[in-house]
Amino acid sequence: MQSPEDGEHALFCRAPAKINLTLDVLGKRADGYHDLMSVMEPIALYDTLALRAAPDGETRLVCDTAELEGDDNLALRAARLVLAHTGCCRGVTIELRKEIPAQGGLGGGSSDAATTLVALNRWLALGLSRTELIDLAARLGSDVPFFITGGTALIEGRGEIVTPLPQAPPLWLIVVKPPIAIPTPAVFGALAPGDYSDGRATRDLVAAIRAGGLPALSDATLWNALEPVVLRDFPAVAESRRMLLGAGAPLARMSGSGPTLYAPFVTLAEAVPVWRAVLQAGATAWLTHTV
Ligand code: C5P
Repeated sequence: MQSPEDGEHALFCRAPAKINLTLDVLGKRADGYHDLMSVMEPIALYDTLALRAAPDGETRLVCDTAELEGDDNLALRAARLVLAHTGCCRGVTIELRKEIPAQGGLGGGSSDAATTLVALNRWLALGLSRTELIDLAARLGSDVPFFITGGTALIEGRGEIVTPLPQAPPLWLIVVKPPIAIPTPAVFGALAPGDYSDGRATRDLVAAIRAGGLPALSDATLWNALEPVVLRDFPAVAESRRMLLGAGAPLARMSGSGPTLYAPFVTLAEAVPVWRAVLQAGATAWLTHTV
């Protein structure tokens, strides 16, 4: 690893996106958050960060997407939090190349933040344990702790309780980003008690993964409690879903609070004709896979 003393050298890191294979909402809590049960899995779609020592002691962000360069950027907040928490007075420049769509339900900002925490802890030898990193991550957002741990995981609480699972069998994915961004609070705020469940879809999937497999993939086994609300309130998402199914995908599921959708495939041969039809339809899409 290059020395952080040398501002000429950057530490490059890749921050993966995630999908929710299931997402059960158990109910609303007194603090305004919702208790969740979800199986999350990293996918091979990455943002790239470069960390560089800043000799002037300032911590700042340079991003290829101008509207993400503000002080509320999660990677910048993560850097400032970990440096302040450990009393470190060094400055860091974060260069961020976005590939994961923002506000898409793929956890891009959360992954950027977790990657920044882990990388600065190692690079600057800040000495934080994994538990301390997860505590800091939870302060930044509900999805951030998952990315500290990495790999297939069961998520509980508001997102901060992460239990690693065996690697789920690999899947090819066609990921489609409808042409809108949806703020997470709007989706949770639109839930009614009828959208809550007892977590059965997640529990069944966890049991299957622990037994070394996956259930038959269906709307029921890959349940996402936030999807019906989004399909109802955001017609652009329903339209993208129809396009994906019309292109031949057997199943199209929303990730997290959306709007991004994914279609899973066991073999590339099954995915390719659908992929060609999705591109033909002019969608913003990726052909990728779980990792
Ligand atoms: O934790 P984070 O800042 O990502 O959450 C954004 C918003 O999403 C919260 O303010 C809340 O409205 C909603 N949320 C929720 N329950 C969760 C996670 C998020 O209601 N478990």
